[in-house]
Amino acid sequence: MDQDLILKQTEDFVKQALAGESSGHDWWHIHRVYRLAIKIAKAEGADLFIVQLAALLHDIDDYKLVLDSDSDDPGRAREWLEQLKVSPELTDSVCQIITEMSFKGARVSSNVTTKEGMVVQDADRLDAIGAIGIARAFAYGGARGRLIHDPEVKPVQHTSFADYKKNTGPTINHFYEKMLLLKDLMNTPTGKQIAAMRHQFIEQFLDRFFKEWRGQW
Ligand code: NI
Repeated sequence: MDQDLILKQTEDFVKQALAGESSGHDWWHIHRVYRLAIKIAKAEGADLFIVQLAALLHDIDDYKLVLDSDSDDPGRAREWLEQLKVSPELTDSVCQIITEMSFKGARVSSNVTTKEGMVVQDADRLDAIGAIGIARAFAYGGARGRLIHDPEVKPVQHTSFADYKKNTGPTINHFYEKMLLLKDLMNTPTGKQIAAMRHQFIEQFLDRFFKEWRGQW
């Protein structure tokens, strides 16, 4: 099995599948997660190849992209891996990670059960905070027709995945409903370390945002 070739082919497949995606789950999101995941995997001693494949394929079946699907089964990822003729064990490991790792609301637990899954989930969550996370939040909100901020609409701590999916609140609420919670949900020491810096930046951003909202300098 030529791992480099498999990674290259998977990269091309994902690029094509996500072409034109502009709501924050475009190819460059995958690319950033892929790079971070490699960095974390090395620091944490996780299986690099599983991490790389899962990072590349983690959004191919995302419910936010496939809006009419309630299923958690990563059918497209599985199909792709089967077509590549990698081992069934590898296919199962990668698909298990993809199924386990998605964020489903502040009070809805998502349990990642393998070290490789923890690494990819951390990398994905890190791309949702910091400067990139802020940019992505507004891109996603814009794509869904949401306001930047509405002081009359308060943030909600979603207790079910169904509620989280139906949420139509302004984007600033998303900071309180998801982004600021992520640093405490990191799995690995390396992930926690990076998250602490990115979290601090979000807090600085919010501080300025509300100052300017109130008409302060
Ligand atoms: Ni993602």
